[in-house]
Amino acid sequence: MNYFSCSCNQKMVDWIIVMDKAKLETRVHRLIFEGKGILAADESTGSIKKRFDSVGVASTPENHRLYRQMLFTTPNIKNFISGVILFDETIRQNTDGGIAFPDCLAKIGITPGIKVDMGAKDMANFPGEKITEGLDSLRERLSDYVNLGAEFTKWRAVIKIDKDLPTDGCIYANCEALARFAALSQEQDMVPIVEPEVLMEGSHTLERSAEVSKRMMKNLFIALSRHRVYIKGMLLKASWVHPGFDYPEKSDSKEIAKTTLRVFKEVLPDELPGVVFLSGGDSPEDSTDHLDKLNELENIPWKLSFSFGRALQEPALKAWVGKSENIAHAQQLFYERARLNSLARSGDY
Ligand code: G3H
Repeated sequence: MNYFSCSCNQKMVDWIIVMDKAKLETRVHRLIFEGKGILAADESTGSIKKRFDSVGVASTPENHRLYRQMLFTTPNIKNFISGVILFDETIRQNTDGGIAFPDCLAKIGITPGIKVDMGAKDMANFPGEKITEGLDSLRERLSDYVNLGAEFTKWRAVIKIDKDLPTDGCIYANCEALARFAALSQEQDMVPIVEPEVLMEGSHTLERSAEVSKRMMKNLFIALSRHRVYIKGMLLKASWVHPGFDYPEKSDSKEIAKTTLRVFKEVLPDELPGVVFLSGGDSPEDSTDHLDKLNELENIPWKLSFSFGRALQEPALKAWVGKSENIAHAQQLFYERARLNSLARSGDY
């Protein structure tokens, strides 16, 4: 970042911190490099417990460390993974050999990043809706993460679709928070991954998902512009436009891809460098297939990549189940999912 003194009312009043746009762009391009995607390994303490419970592994900091070490040290994983989103606990942990995880990743050419929101909490006066917290002291926390080696950040907002949801109030508050987070990240030359997750839970139709996604994205880019966020220096993390899991009529990947692209073309600026997708509860195979079908379509102005959590990790977690003798097999499964998603980046899955 660059510092400039500035004067106001004839008096030196402050330092203005100016983002380094070239550095941000270089970092963005490394993250969305052809054939690679981002591993979301930023499960909060509550989410990792749920994942570990599902395979009968005790959710302790040491088991989290062993599990993440297994993923990060998968041989040749850098061929398909450009960056890893870490959680606060993980960014402070080390490998067995005593190397801090961010340094271990950077050493093999993978960019370390960090989830900086403090979770989605019930929104006062808006029953059934969530607001993501974590803006207080964010500037100081970001400096700490820069010192620990993080080069990018992530903030997730959660938007639920129901009969009368989402409300304008919930959309506005979450977009404002996402934009403020993005501005603070760029101030320290960290690439913000801006994630407005439109949940796939529910019984809504594909068209209703399209309508809500469009409304959310439109408001988001207005908020980003209000906060002077440098669009070429950020990435969007999005959900597919997808019918609710409880809607009886399933859509195939081609339809999901076509609808997602239609909505994106209506609302996303061309200057946005890329969109990375979350998997949101779809199976690993379906997630890869959606991305593949999307990248088969023509005239796409942005790079379309993956930033999956479950869809990259699920087979490896089930194979590992906390046992060191299973590490090699779990790593093979993780490598294979990453390889297939790499193929989906060019529609070759
Ligand atoms: O914020 C969401 C996660 O980073 C992505 O997780 O792919 O399991 O939905 P998921």
